[in-house]
Amino acid sequence: MRFETVAIHAGERPDASLGAISVPIYQTSSFAFEDVGKTRGYDYSRTANPTRKVLEDTIAQLEGGKAGFAFATGMAAETTVMHLLKAGDHVISGDDVYGGTYRLFQDVMPAFGLDFTFLRMDNRESIEQAIKPNSRMLWLETPSNPLLNIIDVEMVVDIAKKHNLLTVIDNTFATPYFLRPIDYGVDLVVHSTTKYLNGHCDVVGGAVITTTDELTQRVQFLLNAMGTCASPFDCWLVLRGIETLPVRMKQHEENAFVVAKYLTNHPSVCKVFYPGLEAHPGYETARKQMDGFGGMVSFEIKGSINTFLKKLNVFSLAESLGGVTSLVEHPTTMSHASMPKDYRDKVGITDRLIRLSVGLENIDDLVEDLEQALKP
Ligand SMILES: Cc1ncc(COP(=O)(O)O)c(C=O)c1O
Repeated sequence: MRFETVAIHAGERPDASLGAISVPIYQTSSFAFEDVGKTRGYDYSRTANPTRKVLEDTIAQLEGGKAGFAFATGMAAETTVMHLLKAGDHVISGDDVYGGTYRLFQDVMPAFGLDFTFLRMDNRESIEQAIKPNSRMLWLETPSNPLLNIIDVEMVVDIAKKHNLLTVIDNTFATPYFLRPIDYGVDLVVHSTTKYLNGHCDVVGGAVITTTDELTQRVQFLLNAMGTCASPFDCWLVLRGIETLPVRMKQHEENAFVVAKYLTNHPSVCKVFYPGLEAHPGYETARKQMDGFGGMVSFEIKGSINTFLKKLNVFSLAESLGGVTSLVEHPTTMSHASMPKDYRDKVGITDRLIRLSVGLENIDDLVEDLEQALKP
């Protein structure tokens, strides 16, 4: 089956018990045993739940992985993946990752003995130089949040295989519709399903997709042992969102392209970050490894940030991204506020930076909204 069909049919659909076309929400903690020591496949919803299972099977198939796991949030998924490691292990991470990811790596995991190096993953030499005898994992985010930097996944996987490192990619921005990291040999994919997979800003959720039996067993064990799983209703919301993922992603990209080109030519805009623009340093790599450039556009403006943000009407000033509704945010005071200023300055996340999640409204309304807000 092709992507669009998988998004609608993967997992047990229609439901085996009564043939329900919409996946039933098994809103239950517990499942009655058939006999002593004999279940009908489920016993307790932290361990496994039929609604969650359909979502997990769907995401796994869309990513081309062995198994999928649904978590309460993207951060719960990431925290669980970190527990694949042990005290004394070293992780190399991209430097301009989501602020919450940076906070987890910088302010939480070191207390458990993990050591992190953050770097721009744009060339082989600097990654290889960062590898230590205790390095175990390479963490990639591409396109990155908020600078939309592109990492050459094939190149990083090649380095990882030579040095026996586990590769993990946060595929939240691209989604499997535009990037299938497992096709390039990545070991684990993580998602904030809060974003494009759900697509309607009505849930927080996360996912992990595995590629081997060993990783599958370990992630299943950790999810159950740590209790980081998603609720049945939240899984249902993400499932419903995924059914329209292909059509939404196409339109997000079409609208984002128009917005990126419009901003490039605007006198009040100093810099535009969108991997679909030929001037973007990651353009060739993005074209090579992705089937589309996505719906996120970042840019720097010359005038007052506050005035611009206040004047917008169609774009709402809000955290998050990937929904049908267009959102705007100011990374240094919002999504990336947990990064220290000197670190943000080093990686290029300036106070002038604005990030747009271009939604599915009529593109003329979006451009007109930006136009009136950018007027001096
Ligand atoms: C790229 C990326 N990864 C992970 C997360 C964390 O996901 P959640 O907010 O669902 O915990 C976010 C949240 O913004 C994100 O943008």
